Amino acid sequence: MIYKLLRPLIHALDAEQAHRATIRALGLLPRRGLPAFPASLASEVAGLRFPSPVGLAAGFDKDGEVPDAMLSLGFGFVEVGTVTPRPQQGNPRPRLFRLAEDEAVINRMGFNNRGQANALARLGRRPRRGVVGANIGANKDSADRIADYVAGIGAMAAVADYLTVNISSPNTPGLRNLQAGGELVELLGAIAEARRPGGPPVFLKVAPDLESGDHDRIVRAAIDGRIDALIVANTTVSRPPLKSRFAGEAGGLSGAPLKPLALDALRAFRSASGGSLPLIAAGGIASADDAWDRILAGASLVQLYSALVYHGPGLARRIADGLAAKLTERGTASIAEAVGSG
Ligand SMILES: Cc1cc2nc3c(=O)[nH]c(=O)nc-3n(C[C@H](O)[C@H](O)[C@H](O)COP(=O)(O)O)c2cc1C
Repeated sequence: MIYKLLRPLIHALDAEQAHRATIRALGLLPRRGLPAFPASLASEVAGLRFPSPVGLAAGFDKDGEVPDAMLSLGFGFVEVGTVTPRPQQGNPRPRLFRLAEDEAVINRMGFNNRGQANALARLGRRPRRGVVGANIGANKDSADRIADYVAGIGAMAAVADYLTVNISSPNTPGLRNLQAGGELVELLGAIAEARRPGGPPVFLKVAPDLESGDHDRIVRAAIDGRIDALIVANTTVSRPPLKSRFAGEAGGLSGAPLKPLALDALRAFRSASGGSLPLIAAGGIASADDAWDRILAGASLVQLYSALVYHGPGLARRIADGLAAKLTERGTASIAEAVGSG
């Protein structure tokens, strides 16, 4: 309700200013405890206990400024980042566009962030509660990108409940090449070596724009490289039909038009993995029905970002409650029981 009233004001601002104002406002919220969720929503994935399967996707809170506010608003887990070893400015503005007619977003932010030392210090000051993951990337001007991921694993392990290796952003030139055969095996080998016993699980985040055959290869490399879960997917560089005047902007597209592509990619990864690797779905999730479809297609958890721009931060709680109602209606005891049952 409140968001419906505020939305025209927020949307009157340039998209990036609106985002900055939102983070500032969230930072001012009084500290609250973690909300309770129906017991049926709790699940264990990669050894972590998630109280609700509905998480905040990376890119909203790049520097880890407001994870606790987002948990208290009803997210079952929050992924901060992408953080790179050194701070960087990202691409020139404008670089973030609301495609309101399409309930979509195009961004070419380019990993603007204050760097891992900054995020490490900030996250180190918060009480450890709730599930907060850190998404790591490589600096644009890095001479050795694999070394950047190794540095990220070392730097962020102490303050994150899980780490996500993001090799699927379209806004750092060449980054997605790390998804290719030899490079991926080399990267995951280096990451496996960098992990310390007792350290957090490591997830791998992939693009939705893959060719047939890529899914099998990525699953094999992930399992061999001891990856604990795949996040499917990042934004797309493809352009399904769009109405907005911003349709031609360069960057990654997210939100409603990404939904069918992300669901197809999830199904391809489920079929490639046969359920042997936990999957986390992202891309165009805006309702309990959307989240449920991903769970039936094999996702153990879901994440969202773009739908918040159109439906406000209360959405995570509404989706969680909708999922709990679906479980009750169907006589299914838990989310885990529903995963992949479609
Ligand atoms: C403005 C913006 C910035 C993003 N930044 C990141 C990022 O830094 N790292 C990352 O892994 N994904 C990033 N993403 C991708 C999201 O985490 C998510 O995978 C994608 O947007 C699809 O989900 P959605 O349709 O619910 O937004 C970003 C998305 C948006 C819209």
